[in-house]
Amino acid sequence: MNKTQNRKRLNRRDFLKLSAIACVTAVGGYALSEYAPWLDYDGQANSTLRPFEQNTTATLRMQELVRYATLAANGHNTQPWKFVIGEGAIEIHPDYSRRLPVVDPLDRELWISLGCALENLLVAARSVGFAPEVIYPDLKDFIQIRFTKDVPDASPLFDAIPQRQTTRSEFDGRSIQAVDLDQVQTLPLEPGVSLRYMTNPTDLETMLEYVNQGNLSQYTNEAFLDELIDWLRFNKKEALASLDGLYTRASGNPEVPRWLGQMFVGGTKPQQQADADAAKLRSSSGGVVIASESDDKTVWVRTGQVYERVALKLTSLDIKSAFLNQPIEVADLRMQFQTAIGLGSSLPQLLVRFGYAEAMPRSLRRPVDEVIVNGGIWK
Ligand SMILES: Cc1cc2nc3c(=O)[nH]c(=O)nc-3n(C[C@H](O)[C@H](O)[C@H](O)COP(=O)(O)O)c2cc1C
Repeated sequence: MNKTQNRKRLNRRDFLKLSAIACVTAVGGYALSEYAPWLDYDGQANSTLRPFEQNTTATLRMQELVRYATLAANGHNTQPWKFVIGEGAIEIHPDYSRRLPVVDPLDRELWISLGCALENLLVAARSVGFAPEVIYPDLKDFIQIRFTKDVPDASPLFDAIPQRQTTRSEFDGRSIQAVDLDQVQTLPLEPGVSLRYMTNPTDLETMLEYVNQGNLSQYTNEAFLDELIDWLRFNKKEALASLDGLYTRASGNPEVPRWLGQMFVGGTKPQQQADADAAKLRSSSGGVVIASESDDKTVWVRTGQVYERVALKLTSLDIKSAFLNQPIEVADLRMQFQTAIGLGSSLPQLLVRFGYAEAMPRSLRRPVDEVIVNGGIWK
């Protein structure tokens, strides 16, 4: 082998070495920037979920009530709310800039989310010594809560507020003890809202048939997938930047760069999604459909309150819950589902499964100063 060939070979080897170094540097740099240990996701989650600060000024106590309200369940974690703190009152307003036009074209789930926040706020207010009175959004486009002083009414549901989460993993298949189920089933409801519990396998299979159909419909709908991808936070850098949305690890998925996550979600086979949810429902102890007599803002708010009340009660009993709303979100399926599960004239609003499981990573919330609009009515 002559010198020129030798140099050529060395050059090629150098070139390969250099390419490898460039690749490692690019991937490493990306990994460092995306998954940097100094991005303290758990610290942020702990701060979001910190205990209620009671020994504080009247103003800060109102802000604590708002913070506890924001810990509620809400569709896609868009946090579609704004709060106005007034004299002895708090208002919860919809934030329509955070609506989900594809999955929730009528803002039904948006108002249910506001109802979930309302329930947290009421539970917290009673526990720290207020008697709240609610004015529902029959005539106005917001909820108002007026407070008068009362004796504190401590409740295990108050302690459950920062513990509650939507647990999207498979559950462990154990049945709920009758005594616990009884406590959940005897919770007070709201006017116009009813619950249909299903714990026997035949009923669960009926539910499943419609969850399957819902998944097949949603996962072949490009607009649904685009909207979902917009609200997915594929790694902690994204989750920490927005403090909203669906953080992939909270759903049991790995952290990935956005381009890879988009490819993965966009390429999900509808049947794959249906099979995954079937396994989740079959691993659950039971399901409950929350239904209502009508479809209007007030009943949606009341539906959210009942859901959150049930979820907090389950949490206080160390029982996890998650949603499978597909057969209600797909408009063509909603009435068929209503008939199949024998709801009569009641309209299904939410479908929830429950059971035992380990906790999942928590989802984040925006700080209160981003959701409180001071001074007058928010427009
Ligand atoms: C009206 C409503 C609809 C929801 N729909 C779904 C759903 O279809 N699938 C799901 O996995 N989670 C659903 N969720 C749960 C939210 O994604 C969840 O509450 C949010 O990401 C915040 O997380 P957290 O509940 O763990 O605090 C829904 C919540 C609400 C209030």
